[in-house]
Amino acid sequence: MWTVQSLQAWALPWLQQRGVESPRLDGDLLLADALGVERLALFLDPKRPVAGEELARFKSHLQRRARREPVAYILGRRGFWKHEFVVTPAVLIPRPETELLLETLLAHFPPAQQDSPLTLLELGVGSGALLCAALLAYPEATGVGVDISAAALAVAEENGRKLGCRERMTLVQGDLLQPLQLASPNDRFHAILSNPPYVRTSEWEQLEPEIHRWEPRQALDGGADGLAALRRIPSEARPFLAEGGLLAVEIGVNQEEAVMALFEAAGLQGVELRLDYSRQPRVVSGRAGSG
Ligand SMILES: C[S@@+](CC[C@H](N)C(=O)[O-])C[C@H]1O[C@@H](n2cnc3c(N)ncnc32)[C@H](O)[C@@H]1O
Repeated sequence: MWTVQSLQAWALPWLQQRGVESPRLDGDLLLADALGVERLALFLDPKRPVAGEELARFKSHLQRRARREPVAYILGRRGFWKHEFVVTPAVLIPRPETELLLETLLAHFPPAQQDSPLTLLELGVGSGALLCAALLAYPEATGVGVDISAAALAVAEENGRKLGCRERMTLVQGDLLQPLQLASPNDRFHAILSNPPYVRTSEWEQLEPEIHRWEPRQALDGGADGLAALRRIPSEARPFLAEGGLLAVEIGVNQEEAVMALFEAAGLQGVELRLDYSRQPRVVSGRAGSG
């Protein structure tokens, strides 16, 4: 009879041999999901017998993981900021680095100091993790999320519903700012955030199998120099920013100089670079002046 402990001991080398980078953690996450328990329960009850449907579920999870499918797609969920989001292969799995965009927003607009509701725009909303987390941090705010992928927008919608911020989100399909119109100055946003595709096309095949075999290419491939979307965003977003409004974008390796120059060229002020927790340049931000 298999137990939690014997399955853990068996799964570890099995995943290791198949090139999985964090075999212990992944094995535990998949086992806990197959048993319908929290990960901690595995350690509290290591002799718990596992058989029948639970065992079959775990084996199926392991086989998927051996094909290098990311754990988040197998489980159908991923944590971001303080919340858990539904993820499917139609959306990029939210990354911890992207939380820096939210931290930038919170630093510019401290939630306790807002007397009137913020209006937010996210370009490339994907799973909706960033926009939902922002809306939950500002309970009065409203947000627009644009994405080129209808399948991604369906996931954002589901996350909005599950987390109770759907009514404050408007989801729009289209190419960056193209679907939006500025009928009046009131249509401008207090903050525009984006984690656009920024991987160089030539780097695509070198990415880990978890990424290049499973994640949507449209979410990651930023063209020859990775800047296809980042080159457009500052100048196209600038007219949509309210006075003092914030534009913040996530960037990839060695893109900070070019992106900061694009922010300056678009007339944004106080252009800043933030490093992520691995000390990598990760977020460029700037503010709209009064002009
Ligand atoms: C890197 S993912 C970011 C997803 C999510 N915001 C996050 O941070 O986890 C980029 C997203 O931009 C979308 N996208 C790519 N090109 C786009 C474009 N030209 N206009 C609008 N959305 C685009 C992709 O479909 C994808 O959902």
